[in-house]
Amino acid sequence: MKIAVIGATGVVGQKMLQVLEEQNLSFDELIVAASEKSIGKKILFKDKEYTLMSVEQAIEECPNIAIFSAGAGTSLKYAKKFAERGTYVIDNSSAWRKDMEVPLVVPEINASDININNHIIANPNCTTICMLMAVAPLHKRYKVKRLVISTYQSVSGSGQKGLDQLACEQRGVTSDNPAYPHQIHENVIPHGGDFSETGYTAEEDKLVFETNKILHSDIAVTATVVRVPVYGGHSESVNIEFEQQFDLDEVKEVLSNTPGVKVYDNPSENIYPMPIMAYDKDEVFVGRIRRDFSIEKGLNLWVVSDNIRKGAATNAVQIAKYIIENFKI
Ligand code: A2P
Repeated sequence: MKIAVIGATGVVGQKMLQVLEEQNLSFDELIVAASEKSIGKKILFKDKEYTLMSVEQAIEECPNIAIFSAGAGTSLKYAKKFAERGTYVIDNSSAWRKDMEVPLVVPEINASDININNHIIANPNCTTICMLMAVAPLHKRYKVKRLVISTYQSVSGSGQKGLDQLACEQRGVTSDNPAYPHQIHENVIPHGGDFSETGYTAEEDKLVFETNKILHSDIAVTATVVRVPVYGGHSESVNIEFEQQFDLDEVKEVLSNTPGVKVYDNPSENIYPMPIMAYDKDEVFVGRIRRDFSIEKGLNLWVVSDNIRKGAATNAVQIAKYIIENFKI
């Protein structure tokens, strides 16, 4: 069993290595690849040094599984080349998510969308994964009609560039390679991904499309994506309109009994989820669970998670585990 991590030097790639180690996935060989500038450099995994290679060299190694987090361009260029050699590619970028031949998977929700012939599997966007961890079990119970989502996304979602920009600006220095078109320090930027002619951004469109692909649904979804000066952890305000009537205590019970979800909701004690407490945790935290009194079957939630873990690395490693266990590779 050979596992490759493509983009192993990046923020998500590094977290993937950490999660692979924690989960004690059993494999014989680890292949690590990154861009030209990193070739030959060493990285540590389980106290052993591994030498970074090019993506082309990694293809030659014919890994059983390749987990990609090196941007959409790299995935578009190389994922099929791995797949043609029998590798299962788990891709963290947006490159393949819209391809209807490619399953888009949150294992707790739709692992069964993966079949043995799917050699490219897409990891959804971080905001979609975390929001759906809370919304999917409620959809199953009460059928969601409409979602209104506002995100409060940390800079780690933009990789090292985002982290560096915030760190520079906090020191009073202007970043020479900024991730955002404006200062992020002491600011809030209502802009994630490119704008389309509709006035929405790419990150907003992802929430709409990915929700319905994963749930096999036709839910009306609208979103506003906002970047905030937080290093790690995405938060989302989620307003849900259901088809069916619900009981608030039952909603809390459903969420409390959902694996991977932790209810953190005791307003009288100031207990609600915040990015600072989600840091380096795999669970998705849900709080501020309350009725939306402006409509008949409405609910408001506040959802927080570590975007680099469940929003990216952990979800990808869970998919790898599913493939190993179910396809006996
Ligand atoms: P490198 O460190 O060599 O640039 P982040 O999103 O945190 O910036 O990480 C991006 C990851 O994708 C890094 O591991 C980076 O490697 C890798 N990467 C970027 N461009 C390429 C490319 N053209 N081919 C392979 N890996 C790439």
